Amino acid sequence: MSPAEETEVASERETARTVRDMFGKIAARYDFLNHFLSVNTDRLWRRRCLKEVRRRLSASPPRILDIGCGTADLSIAFSRLGPVFGCDFCHPMLRIGRQKVSRAAGRHAVELVEGDALNLSFRDGVFDAVVSAFVVRNLANIDAGLTEMRRVLRPGGVLAVLDFSMPTTPILGAAYRFYFLRVLPRLGKWLSGVDGPYRYLPDSVQTFPPPREFAGRIASAGFLGVEHHMLTRGVAALFLATAAPR
Ligand SMILES: C[S@@+](CC[C@H](N)C(=O)[O-])C[C@H]1O[C@@H](n2cnc3c(N)ncnc32)[C@H](O)[C@@H]1O
Repeated sequence: MSPAEETEVASERETARTVRDMFGKIAARYDFLNHFLSVNTDRLWRRRCLKEVRRRLSASPPRILDIGCGTADLSIAFSRLGPVFGCDFCHPMLRIGRQKVSRAAGRHAVELVEGDALNLSFRDGVFDAVVSAFVVRNLANIDAGLTEMRRVLRPGGVLAVLDFSMPTTPILGAAYRFYFLRVLPRLGKWLSGVDGPYRYLPDSVQTFPPPREFAGRIASAGFLGVEHHMLTRGVAALFLATAAPR
């Protein structure tokens, strides 16, 4: 490995550690804060994600992977369609997710496993759908994450990536920017008792590539028919694509 590559690997490890520690600190309050700070809109976005993926799936029941499953809300929602593996590298988030899974009466099984989105432990082409909500923006290497998603999907399998975006309309954009950049970090710190994660959230959304650019990167990772849907006037974006034949 060249010195430049070694530096890059070290920096990716450091980013991963920071992200893992951050979610570990807020895990106990994550669900409450998610629903409270988004005024429950996050539930609507996950529902939309489920609806769009269901429309595109042909296998029945489909095998689904939820990457960065956290406390398992998306995994539990998708278990209505087929068996779900949820994968996350933050143990405290998974612990809460497992408690929720044991209480949820889903139609299909949900299994949560500890693992890194950049180095998945699953074989090539074993999933009919890969879904991921509010995760890609946190990845130390977004393109490597997309390549892993493509690797574990069968050709023709469905990818759905949901994440925050920034509304671009003048009035709503300005109001949202004020909430997101000024109010949310303070409210998040006060409610979670932890400084950092809710300052990191707007920073990570602002540095994330704009939707068209990110859609292009999904295509470059081996996907066809990439679509993006702006949700709640651009507060979030849902990306959908089909795994290209190898
Ligand atoms: C904002 S939470 C989203 C959780 C869940 N998907 C949801 O919809 O609520 C981001 C999650 O991604 C996980 N994550 C971030 N980078 C990861 C990586 N490289 N490998 C596995 N999990 C990762 C974090 O541990 C955290 O649980």
